[in-house]
Amino acid sequence: MKTEILYDNTDSDIERAAELLKGGAIVAFPTETVYGLGANALDSAAVKKIFEAKGRPSDNPLIVHLSYPQEAEKYAFTNELFYRLTRFMPGPLTVILKKRENIPDVVTAGLDSVALRVPYYLPARKLIKLASVPVAAPSANISGKPSPTKAQHVIDDMTGKVEAILCGADCSVGVESTVVKIVGDNRLVICRPGGVTKEMLEDICSEVEIDPAVISKFEGAPISPGMKYKHYSPDADVILLIGTEEQIIKYISDKSDFGILCFDEDKHLLTRGNALSLGREKDFSLQAARLFDCLRSFDKDKSIKTIYARMPGDDGVGLAVRNRLLKAAGFDIVRL
Ligand code: TXA
Ligand code: MG
Repeated sequence: MKTEILYDNTDSDIERAAELLKGGAIVAFPTETVYGLGANALDSAAVKKIFEAKGRPSDNPLIVHLSYPQEAEKYAFTNELFYRLTRFMPGPLTVILKKRENIPDVVTAGLDSVALRVPYYLPARKLIKLASVPVAAPSANISGKPSPTKAQHVIDDMTGKVEAILCGADCSVGVESTVVKIVGDNRLVICRPGGVTKEMLEDICSEVEIDPAVISKFEGAPISPGMKYKHYSPDADVILLIGTEEQIIKYISDKSDFGILCFDEDKHLLTRGNALSLGREKDFSLQAARLFDCLRSFDKDKSIKTIYARMPGDDGVGLAVRNRLLKAAGFDIVRL
């Protein structure tokens, strides 16, 4: 398949992308979290093409993207708590609600709920509005690989597999949206941490829980099907290290063929050619923005067989960074 390369700073290119979506094509596009791979959510045949292009298991449901939060009424049953959550919409938040009949089974993998999100990044919203259809979109990576946060990542993964790639800015958040499930009238369960943090959600809801699968190995039936898959994994093995810089230097002294993912403060590690910094140890937003690009950079160097990563903090957006690294490592942690 020939893949058209389009640019989101050109109105005619956004219009072209919208036309393609309306006509049943699959089109990758930027959002503030990660690049998505979109199709008209009401067109089952188009949505099926997303699963094929990504190699995604068909039991993992997709997020439906809208241009306004009020459109949720058309596709799901809302409640008062949903409207409190609209404080974070548009933004990096996905809300799981009971679905209406019009959302096809292929989108929700047969579940009776649907995940809805209104992206903040303006060209994304323009695209959805122009297409005038709800847009089902997972991250635009090959299934299991780190999500794409730059146009080049999507070009690397999706050229020849999709009708078009709308290229835009690097993703400012850099990790996928926070996924919350509304339970009853006043309880939220965080299924996947992201840019809208637990602390922010607690401002509008007194009962906010984190699903145990966010920080520990999945056992049993997950609240969100995506939680059971190994994810965000570069080709190299990822191992998380808990310890001081000196302990890490000692630990890696007899190792070979590895890269190190650390922080700006790790001055001695950073003098080595094989280390990349995620940013300052407490700068969780920058760590989130850089994480997937760093993992993909290590993979470009085929000599790197293992990535040793420092365990990030878990405050605010740090929890999202920690969750992605834990998943990339398959919960492989070494305490020094
Ligand atoms: O930031 C994002 O959310 C990006 C951009 C493109 O918007 N999208 C994204 O989609 O990360 P994806 O498919 O990679 O992740 C969607 C997650 C999966 O873990 C999936 O299992 C979960 O949301 N999910 C979707 N629908 C669900 C549902 N009805 N019930 C429970 N979990 C659901
Ligand atoms: Mg994904």
